[in-house]
Amino acid sequence: MHADSWALKAKKSGFRTRAVFKLDEIIQKTQVLKRSKYILDLGSAPGGWSQYIKQKSKKSEVYAIDILDMESVEGVNFYQESIENIDTIDPIFSLMGSFDLAISDIAPNLTGIHAIDTENIFELNILTLEVAARYLNKSHGSFIMKTFQNSMLKNLRKKMELSFKIVQTFKPAASKKQSGEIYLYGAYK
Ligand SMILES: C[S@@+](CC[C@H](N)C(=O)[O-])C[C@H]1O[C@@H](n2cnc3c(N)ncnc32)[C@H](O)[C@@H]1O
Repeated sequence: MHADSWALKAKKSGFRTRAVFKLDEIIQKTQVLKRSKYILDLGSAPGGWSQYIKQKSKKSEVYAIDILDMESVEGVNFYQESIENIDTIDPIFSLMGSFDLAISDIAPNLTGIHAIDTENIFELNILTLEVAARYLNKSHGSFIMKTFQNSMLKNLRKKMELSFKIVQTFKPAASKKQSGEIYLYGAYK
């Protein structure tokens, strides 16, 4: 399907972004939502993924964080903050080690200079991985993170493998082929 068609489908379904269909494919393949109640949405604005989680799993408790403001999503606890400062958000901090699923669609602002962008993506992914590893339940937690196909990807996947028992790579159909974006999935069980 063409990128515009995914955008149209998202609009018709009442979702704020077509990124929901990328998450949907990974969720369908891993069935991870069935065993997840406490969910951390890192880089959540404008809120498509949070909407999707609440629609698919009414019982879920979603905590969402973004440096940008986000229009409220019913049932979602949103905090406008950088993930660097996540420990300062008391309601999230008090759940450290209890999250069943962390999802991250975070990407840095691109400069257009390949070497700098590659480095910035890697640094932000490592920070996100470190946050997820601290906040997830170590016995069964799972993590879905957006990244990009570049020279640091192997290195990033190795770091994921040090944290998680299972690591998989996904290139969802709704993700533009030329974008280079891919998603890493990690699970403790
Ligand atoms: C592609 S968007 C997320 C879209 C979202 N998944 C959806 O479906 O609506 C990426 C988000 O990551 C956020 N972001 C980037 N760096 C961040 C950081 N350090 N802390 C929190 N959010 C960040 C951006 O502000 C942006 O809103």
